Amino acid sequence: MSGAPLYDTIGATYTVTRRTEPRIAAQVWAALGAARTVLNVGAGTGSYEPSDRDVTAVEPSAVMRAQRPAGAARCVAATAERLPFEDQSFDAAMAFATIHHWPDPIAGLREMRRVAHRVVVFTHETTGTGWHRRFWLTRDYLPEVAELIAGRPSLTELARSIGARTEPVPIPWDCADGFFEAYWRRPGAYLDDHVRRGMSVWTGIGPDAERRAVRSLRDDLASGRWAERNRDLLGLEAAELGLRLLIA
Ligand SMILES: C[S@@+](CC[C@H](N)C(=O)[O-])C[C@H]1O[C@@H](n2cnc3c(N)ncnc32)[C@H](O)[C@@H]1O
Repeated sequence: MSGAPLYDTIGATYTVTRRTEPRIAAQVWAALGAARTVLNVGAGTGSYEPSDRDVTAVEPSAVMRAQRPAGAARCVAATAERLPFEDQSFDAAMAFATIHHWPDPIAGLREMRRVAHRVVVFTHETTGTGWHRRFWLTRDYLPEVAELIAGRPSLTELARSIGARTEPVPIPWDCADGFFEAYWRRPGAYLDDHVRRGMSVWTGIGPDAERRAVRSLRDDLASGRWAERNRDLLGLEAAELGLRLLIA
């Protein structure tokens, strides 16, 4: 399952752990430049929507749309691959932590490029060294993640499709938005079911792999093996885990 049907199934508890991380938001909003009108594609519950600009949201999942707070930007039920807007009708289009859910991310990015003068996308590296092996959770506990991303367009292909440059996004150790990499310095958080339910990766790999990974992490935290292996992370304020902005 992918796309909007996935979020109609797993999205009901999204806001328990998912919210705007202010330091990452500042980087996204800086990349939007002087844009006054902003389209937020795959907008979910409205995280990262700048409050000082004229925002229109696009979100295909009814479960996610229903959780947008009162007073949030107007939200249109549509998908990235077919944006119901005229060419160049927004100063900028943004997409946060969503393009890996789109059935055709390149078509969606081209649509963003068509309807907006500037495009800003938060996504991740797709190469083994860039993402999978850089994060201890995927490297040591969840090798299955490599299969999840196999066959998806690479970051280079995504960037090339819209002529974007890439910018690294460091993840603060106390990241407020509970996405997959957010707890890199707080490993015990991944033992918490509420935390895992806010990350679609766990649904993607399935319950058997999830149980095995959680058991193995719990054992390594108790024995001190995790701390031994990841000693170099403990003093870091922010980590480079292959998260990227695409800016076009
Ligand atoms: C991880 S959530 C991110 C939501 C929001 N951008 C945020 O940062 O909290 C991914 C979102 O992408 C949406 N999505 C899935 N397929 C999509 C598509 N084809 N076009 C646009 N959005 C899509 C899902 O419904 C879900 O709300």
